[in-house]
Amino acid sequence: MSSAFGPDFVFGVATASYQIEGAVREDGRGPSIWDTFSHTPGKISDGTNGDVACDHYHRWESDLDLMVDLGVDAYRFSIAWSRIQPSGSGPVNQVGLDFYSRLVDGLLARGIQPFVTVYHWDLPQGLEDRGGWLNRDTAFRYGEYAGIVGAALGDRVATWATFNEPWCTSALGYGSGEHAPGASSPSGAVIAAHHLNLAHGFGVQALRSSGATGRVGVVCNVHQFYPASDDPADAAACDRVDAVANLLYTEPMLRGRYDPLTVEVTRGVTDWSFLVDGDLDQICQKLDYLGVNYYAPSYLAAGDNPAPPTPWPGDVQARWLPPRPPLTLMGWTVEPRGLTDVLVRTHERYPELPLVVTENGVAVADVVSPDGLVHDPGRVAYLHDHLEAVAAARAAGVPVQGYFVWSLMDNVEWAHGHTKPFGLYHVDYATQARTPKDSAHWYQQFVASQR
Ligand code: FCB
Repeated sequence: MSSAFGPDFVFGVATASYQIEGAVREDGRGPSIWDTFSHTPGKISDGTNGDVACDHYHRWESDLDLMVDLGVDAYRFSIAWSRIQPSGSGPVNQVGLDFYSRLVDGLLARGIQPFVTVYHWDLPQGLEDRGGWLNRDTAFRYGEYAGIVGAALGDRVATWATFNEPWCTSALGYGSGEHAPGASSPSGAVIAAHHLNLAHGFGVQALRSSGATGRVGVVCNVHQFYPASDDPADAAACDRVDAVANLLYTEPMLRGRYDPLTVEVTRGVTDWSFLVDGDLDQICQKLDYLGVNYYAPSYLAAGDNPAPPTPWPGDVQARWLPPRPPLTLMGWTVEPRGLTDVLVRTHERYPELPLVVTENGVAVADVVSPDGLVHDPGRVAYLHDHLEAVAAARAAGVPVQGYFVWSLMDNVEWAHGHTKPFGLYHVDYATQARTPKDSAHWYQQFVASQR
């Protein structure tokens, strides 16, 4: 991989607001669905929450310095909507906006490109109280919010993502209930997906008309499915799941349609009456790139539909094979070729778009050694092998323009609380000390070697 990436390739690290900021009641921030969810007994595996998290809201300057040490080109972070509009609509909370403005300036002063995710799962609770993503109105509110942040930061932000992983919001938030707001209904997952798609379209238009000069796209966890065998029924299972996991989002956004298979698979759970004339034109906006988050593939065989509550709405006729070892601390299989394959396949589907690997990384049972350091050879190997997989996709002609490690530092891993560290930096939550792991040194050297 000595010079596989070239000088224009963007190396970065990623985080998200709820996972790192803390300061949940400061400077006018309103509650989000993750505040409510994490304070509901039994929802977070270790009983923790994001009230303090990495205290990044107060430590952002020294956290930016960590990125200088890494030598990365870009930082992908998200904006907490409820800092900007505490209940999700109405007047702007200027103090909240100023925080992100300072963050952006701090990045630019350090020569690091700001990559802003407008929405990374933390819906203002005030909007959830009115139905959240099941309510079509939320898409309109999102468009207004995107216009506000675009107008405030658009002169300085290099790259925008309207959403992070809309599949997780709809399928896990409204389908299986594993994520906030914890609702579980198969029709809800599809309805939420459509409203997220609509919000994406409004968001792209609002960002552009606010005068934002950066590139605009969206980040999806494009799932990579492999059939369990050569049996065509297993391939058909992959297609049906693909229709509700991937095409439900990318086809309206990039092709202005819902795939017939998506409609067929979900017809038993919804009549699609939520789709209003003109919506697809609103959703399908020209994008500058597509962000792909990748961690692991899944293996599918033909089978019965998963028992509810499930993130797989409709008649998918699929059975998930147990993940193959080696497994990460998340229980996910380690399979770098899945990253090459997902990039190649996404490029075949949407050849007009540059791709960016907007998240990739691994949770490891890190231990602080007696020498005070964190030796994480498993993470180093994971990152090395997945960067090699990105290089393979580029060699195959896929225009991959960047790669972001998830994550800069250990943080609140949603429903897993503090139990799944993904960071290049170890965080001691008692002291908030950040310590570079071996993987941080490795990534720093890797990035430098590509220059
Ligand atoms: C992704 C999320 C990110 C983080 C990683 C591990 O699905 O976008 O916030 O939780 O998984």
